[in-house]
Amino acid sequence: MGNKDISIGLFGFGCVGQGLYDVLNHSEGLKANIDRICVKDKNKKRKIDASYFTYDKNDILKTGKHNVIVELIDNANEAFDIVREAMNNGVNVVSANKKMLAENFKELYDLQLKNNVALIYEGSAGGSIPIIRNLEEYYDNELLSSVKGILNGTCNYILTRMELENKDYTDVLKDAQLNGFAESDPWLDVAGFDTKFKTSLLTIHAFGIVLAPDDIFNTGIQNISYDDILYAKQRGLRVKMLGVSQKVGDKYRVYALPHLVGKESELYNVLYEYNAVEVEGAFSCKQTLVGKGAGSHPTGSAVLSDISALTYDYKYGYKKLKKALTINPNIEDGIKQVEFDFPIKLYIRFQDKSQLNDLEILNIEEEYKSASTNFIVANVNFNSLFNIYNKRDNKLFICAI
Ligand SMILES: NC(=O)c1ccc[n+]([C@@H]2O[C@H](COP(=O)([O-])OP(=O)(O)OC[C@H]3O[C@@H](n4cnc5c(N)ncnc54)[C@H](OP(=O)(O)O)[C@@H]3O)[C@@H](O)[C@H]2O)c1
Repeated sequence: MGNKDISIGLFGFGCVGQGLYDVLNHSEGLKANIDRICVKDKNKKRKIDASYFTYDKNDILKTGKHNVIVELIDNANEAFDIVREAMNNGVNVVSANKKMLAENFKELYDLQLKNNVALIYEGSAGGSIPIIRNLEEYYDNELLSSVKGILNGTCNYILTRMELENKDYTDVLKDAQLNGFAESDPWLDVAGFDTKFKTSLLTIHAFGIVLAPDDIFNTGIQNISYDDILYAKQRGLRVKMLGVSQKVGDKYRVYALPHLVGKESELYNVLYEYNAVEVEGAFSCKQTLVGKGAGSHPTGSAVLSDISALTYDYKYGYKKLKKALTINPNIEDGIKQVEFDFPIKLYIRFQDKSQLNDLEILNIEEEYKSASTNFIVANVNFNSLFNIYNKRDNKLFICAI
């Protein structure tokens, strides 16, 4: 097969949409062209000819002119409506929208089967790092034990600058916002939601387990202070925001948490906006893929690779998921394979000890109190972390050791 001409209906012409436009213009041999672009703001100046643009999604979805829809907008609910309609029209879709994909995965999986269409999304996790198709194809028969990584460039950029420039969180965050490395509302990034959405997608392709985002615990660097960086530094460690999906015995542990990482880990030297994914298998052992985790051209290149894959009729085979479904036919039953009651060793900085009341602390290994900072290193029942889940007023900084 292969070498199909592709006429693209593109949604979104922001950071990634423009990146795709540039990357596509420099690609050789790919018979794909952007025919129409749907955007939102009629008053925005565009850097390409106005004839490309429409503000009505039906100008793309209802014309039947495009054999691929590329969805690159920043609103997950609107993105889901667009993607669902395109798939129901029998059109293949490329997306990079991890929030939309993670929140609606079951329905999106069913739509792929019902309509016999492809939905592919390499740009949604790890930016330019080719991880999803590798988990699906290269590691299709490998007995994977762990997939974990630095999946959010904003967090890694902030953590790197705090450590290397001895700066506090709020100063670096402000600077990151000015330099385009953090959104004006950075909550989804800094509180670990973005890392969690990506971890959820990697878990599907690595282990065939589909979890609702609320079943994956996340917390991030939103409450970090320079004291925490110093704690790590004095021990030769670095704080890294990680998404973790690992098999322990016959159960899986999936979460997104800051971690203390030592020099022996390849993740230690991944700095600034770079991302890395470490894949561990029984026979392949440990492999780490490193690359730009976000940005216009890096993410555009992942999207381009998906478009290219569609020219030879590529679809995710969901091999691990299909295998899991032969044992538990309900996609929702994947959660039965996930472990929640296990001890996890954490560094926890707090202001007032009552803040720890919601956590089931099993034993304390280290405790430090001073006028300016208090922390414990303790084993905590992982399940009890859900008691503090997604509470913006919770001021604990939690980091796995
Ligand atoms: N930025 C990255 O590095 C990166 C990396 C990986 C994945 N992603 C994902 O890629 C997607 C796009 O991100 P981005 O950074 O490119 O966003 P962005 O720069 O904020 O651009 C968003 C674009 O979507 C358009 N838009 C919003 N709502 C729309 C609607 N209902 N219909 C049509 N167009 C609409 C906006 O139109 P106007 O131009 O008219 O405002 C804008 O062009 C998101 O899902 C994001 O999570 C981004």
